[in-house]
Amino acid sequence: MYYLADTANTEEIKKLLHYFPLQGITTNPTILAAEGKKLSVILPELVKLAGDKMLHIQMISEKAERMVDEAGRYREQCGDKCDFYAKVPITEEGYRAIPMLKRAGIKVTATAIFTHQQALVAARAGANFVAPYVNRLDNISSHGIEVVSHIVKSFNDFKLPTKVLAASFKTVDQVHRVTLTGCYSATISFELLERLRSHPMTNTSVESFLKDGKDLYDIPF
Ligand code: E4P
Repeated sequence: MYYLADTANTEEIKKLLHYFPLQGITTNPTILAAEGKKLSVILPELVKLAGDKMLHIQMISEKAERMVDEAGRYREQCGDKCDFYAKVPITEEGYRAIPMLKRAGIKVTATAIFTHQQALVAARAGANFVAPYVNRLDNISSHGIEVVSHIVKSFNDFKLPTKVLAASFKTVDQVHRVTLTGCYSATISFELLERLRSHPMTNTSVESFLKDGKDLYDIPF
């Protein structure tokens, strides 16, 4: 499974890019609001940090035609080097926008997906990615992982090229279980990525290795 960072915080992204094998960055209006900056200010910063990695930016327009204009504007601002995806919430207008965006040569991530069938319809419409919301499903006594696993199975069964970008995680266990579904990628907050890659026993083990080995290895510490 590939990891993406679900954040627009440039300090967090810089820190992650230092050591974490990130495949890209995703944002949504709520994530942007937490930064207190306009998209026009933050987009160039995200583009610079993303380099040739994926950058998924969510559309705010409600009408399909406007989503296409909006996505075109961002893609132009992102430039050729950027692997830009227009995140389209899967409303009636969102479904309509997918083939229009594809015809305009813009890659699409269908977002705010809560059911297996929404994902299949988005895939049939031509979405490159679908983003099912695991934690938000779990929060309404549904089963986020089960929804993802059904989507993964159907995409495999029907040999659909659309990939799954699982989203909305709050716990390490949710990420662990989504990985076992075989889903292609997941977008995860900075705090949770940090929790995934670390363990206190790793730190205590390294400390004791250093203590035991520092006088034995012929290299400067
Ligand atoms: C990413 O594409 C989603 O917008 C995001 O993961 C939603 O996460 P939340 O449910 O924690 O807001």
